[in-house]
Amino acid sequence: MDHIIRRERPEEEQITENLVREAFWNKYRPGCTEHYILHCFREDKDFIPELDLVMEKDGRLIGQIMFARAFVTARDGSKIPVTTFGPVSILPEFQGQGLGRELIEHGLEKAAEMGFGAVFVIGDDKFYEHLGFCNALSEGIRYEFADREDEEIDYVLCKELQAGFLKDVIGMWRDPDGYRVCMRDPFGFQEFESGFPYKALEYNEDQLFSY
Ligand SMILES: CC(C)(COP(=O)(O)OP(=O)(O)OC[C@H]1O[C@@H](n2cnc3c(N)ncnc32)[C@H](O)[C@@H]1OP(=O)(O)O)[C@@H](O)C(=O)NCCC(=O)NCCS
Repeated sequence: MDHIIRRERPEEEQITENLVREAFWNKYRPGCTEHYILHCFREDKDFIPELDLVMEKDGRLIGQIMFARAFVTARDGSKIPVTTFGPVSILPEFQGQGLGRELIEHGLEKAAEMGFGAVFVIGDDKFYEHLGFCNALSEGIRYEFADREDEEIDYVLCKELQAGFLKDVIGMWRDPDGYRVCMRDPFGFQEFESGFPYKALEYNEDQLFSY
């Protein structure tokens, strides 16, 4: 094996954030904000430093994944701790070689070792179903920001890390507020982004957002 997965070191934070920017740039919107989300999460109560991982090959960082704490609110109001992850990135030149899958599966193993019973994610259902995830509503858990209780949102997915963990759970899941930092602080993002090298914005029909 010519690469390793390990915890990110404090002195690598900027390199990792640039890696995220390279991977996400123009993919879901013109430019991207995921590098700022990671940057802000580092100070967030939901951030899990033990699961802030990088992939290194020949002394170079080529991939990263971060995890955060989240919870499902059950019908009786109790909070069931779970985890979520993202951004997850592989540098474009290394994509499509199975490295992203390896990084995610490694992170999920570590999360299970830490005692997490389930993981939720917002992402491409085709990709994550391939990794054993299923639609959260099919497990009885709706997304807190769904318009209707029975609305099946194809991009909200989950996976048990301990068999049967979600079996009797009916409730709702919300992704941590850390993922909405750009809505709360658009000027903070602009200032942060201005510290990176120029990259051209592209607009195309495959993007989910036009702004
Ligand atoms: C998403 C990302 C991390 C995946 O990493 P990767 O190394 O390119 O993916 P892999 O090569 O490990 O692919 C894993 C598997 O998923 C499959 N796959 C990849 N993209 C897929 C898609 N859109 N739909 C269905 N299957 C897909 C691959 O065929 C592969 O299957 P296999 O394991 O049976 O061969 C990487 O492409 C990336 O950084 N993209 C930009 C940032 C991003 O979109 N992050 C995720 C946000 S949810």
